[in-house]
Amino acid sequence: FEIIHLDRIDSTNIYAYKLAKEGERNIVVVADEQTFGKGRLDRAWFSDFGGLYFSIVLESDVDRFPVLNFLASLCVVKTLRNYSNKAFGIKWPNDIIVNNKKICGILSEVNVERGFMVLGIGINVNNKIREEIKDIATSLKEVEGKEFNKMEILKTFLEIFESYLINLNPEDILREYKENSLTLDEYVKIITPNREILGRVVNITYEGIILQTDEKLEIVDVGDCIHLR
Ligand code: BTN
Repeated sequence: FEIIHLDRIDSTNIYAYKLAKEGERNIVVVADEQTFGKGRLDRAWFSDFGGLYFSIVLESDVDRFPVLNFLASLCVVKTLRNYSNKAFGIKWPNDIIVNNKKICGILSEVNVERGFMVLGIGINVNNKIREEIKDIATSLKEVEGKEFNKMEILKTFLEIFESYLINLNPEDILREYKENSLTLDEYVKIITPNREILGRVVNITYEGIILQTDEKLEIVDVGDCIHLR
């Protein structure tokens, strides 16, 4: 991967997406600060100095898209374990959680026509967590009580990520994703743009999360997931 390091940008996803449209592939855009960090479901992502904010441009067809998406979460968990012994896990689809708080979020954007995807990853490393999200968010610095070299963390992530890409094995990745899932077997509420579904998570697949509700089995492919117990 070629790394493009910027001081400050609106959003590394927006920047990377533009480059992808121009034909760039296998590049990583990293910024020290974002002025318009984007989260999932049209939310904002606070991107203060000290955090690690990067986007990877990958060649991808529709089949690979969900695999790369799960792979990204798995690789973040594996990366963070190199720096901390705390229990990191994945909340479906793509949040990395430690101490019941979110430490990393992933926003993947896809362009099916042109066959690329942009994987945007935000990890709270040394950045101060803002007051308004103190209860739901944490940082590596907060968890470990010391600062980390965020570019070294990026290198570690890319090494792990590339090692899986060489021989992309969707079954292995799904198995490992599920082993690290905090959502599997949980009682959850999934909030989608048009409804809410309550149930126990009996399986996670590339097509979506499978819930046992009071009435039937349901598969949901997008939404916000809230753990109930
Ligand atoms: C979420 O959990 O809602 C996803 C957050 C994704 C944030 C990252 S930071 C780097 C990249 N650029 C963005 O604007 N967003 C992603």
